[in-house]
Amino acid sequence: MGKKVYIHTFGCQMNVHDSEKMAGILEEEGFLQTDSIQEADLVIFNTCSIRQKAEQKFYSELGRMKAYKKEKPELKIAVAGCIAQQEGKNIFKRAPHADLVLGPQNLTALRNISKESRERVATGNNPSIATQDLPVKRTEGVSAWVTIMYGCNNFCSYCIVPYTRGRECSRPTENIYREVSELARKGYREITLLGQNVNSYMSDVDFPGLLRRLDRVGGIERVRFVTSHPKDLSPDLIHEMSALPTVCEHIHLPLQSGSSSILKSMNRKYTFETYMKKVSELRKHVPDISMTTDIIAGFPGETEKDHQLTLQAMREIEFDGIFAFKFSPRPGTKAASMEDRLSEEEKSERLYEILELQDEITERKNRSLEGTILEILVEGKSDTNNNLFSGRTRTNKIVTIPAISCGKGAMVKVEIVKARKHSLEGKMLA
Ligand code: 5AD
Ligand code: SF4
Repeated sequence: MGKKVYIHTFGCQMNVHDSEKMAGILEEEGFLQTDSIQEADLVIFNTCSIRQKAEQKFYSELGRMKAYKKEKPELKIAVAGCIAQQEGKNIFKRAPHADLVLGPQNLTALRNISKESRERVATGNNPSIATQDLPVKRTEGVSAWVTIMYGCNNFCSYCIVPYTRGRECSRPTENIYREVSELARKGYREITLLGQNVNSYMSDVDFPGLLRRLDRVGGIERVRFVTSHPKDLSPDLIHEMSALPTVCEHIHLPLQSGSSSILKSMNRKYTFETYMKKVSELRKHVPDISMTTDIIAGFPGETEKDHQLTLQAMREIEFDGIFAFKFSPRPGTKAASMEDRLSEEEKSERLYEILELQDEITERKNRSLEGTILEILVEGKSDTNNNLFSGRTRTNKIVTIPAISCGKGAMVKVEIVKARKHSLEGKMLA
């Protein structure tokens, strides 16, 4: 019987997709995936270090594995992802029961997992990952993630990513085109292009050029991308968002703060005013665009006035959704050594105000969609109710509908009958 791997993924979409790549590599090594840790011969923790909370969660899970390995000494434990990259062999000091440490640029180190002679730590700089076509084991579906670039060059002062994922490195356009064509052949209808900063994609063509190429892949009806950096959002990209039929009317454009002085100290390289100009341009050229963002509450030096500016910005822009986080000092980043006078309670209060305001805005925006007719791509049964199917609009809103016979992968027109807090209820039009 083949060996089994259990992969526990922490953090972002990039990590979820890296886990799909690890599963692909391991499939070639004869491993099947399991969702039962008891059955596993290999456990992989794909870690995230973007905030302290994610890091703590991982360490407590890893600690729990110690007793587990005592009972089953042949079990192999691998630590992958951003914490692996940062900590390298230090992982073994904290967890001698771990077997292998591999960073995000060294996923192929899993190829030797069954050999005792393999290296125990693989965290070297490996930009050639951008030209390797790694096998990917995707969960079957209608929507697939495709990496277009690795790393980040921006060094926002709070962010650990440039230290863990290295410098920007784009995949050749041809390789991406090939992968997307293959996905279309397999029946996928939507792709999401992934990169820390997709707008600075640069290979045979630039990012708008890549979108133009992918627009021509027959069978792919929707193209999404994350994440965009406001400083690199060019007029050409805005033009293609409005002109290319496949590119969806949604952008995730992290604002981080509504205060230009905090943005400066975050090293974001834009002011609130220049961000607003881009928002207006986007709305002018892509009228029904939905916009989502990331916000950090309680960055070092953030005054009450700065915080109010963030709330004001949110009222002005009316994002469709936000991800908001309390500032979390990451060792080795510039912001970690900035004077941080706010208490945890103050940061929590600011975060709470941000989330509460956004709830109001989301609810209002969702309610305004009641009675409208939208097209959704059905992704499958709803997670919470077996009698419902769930799908997404081009603007990335989740809509549930009563179960239908065409099911997964169908592109259907629905009327929105009721707005809920985080989703919409629809009924299919005949
Ligand atoms: N503290 C809080 N939030 C952070 N993010 C990145 N680093 C930190 C940090 N140190 C947030 C940013 C980014 C998102 C992916 O995570 O908002 O856009
Ligand atoms: Fe981090 Fe800034 Fe790069 Fe995003 S753009 S990964 S926030 S350094």
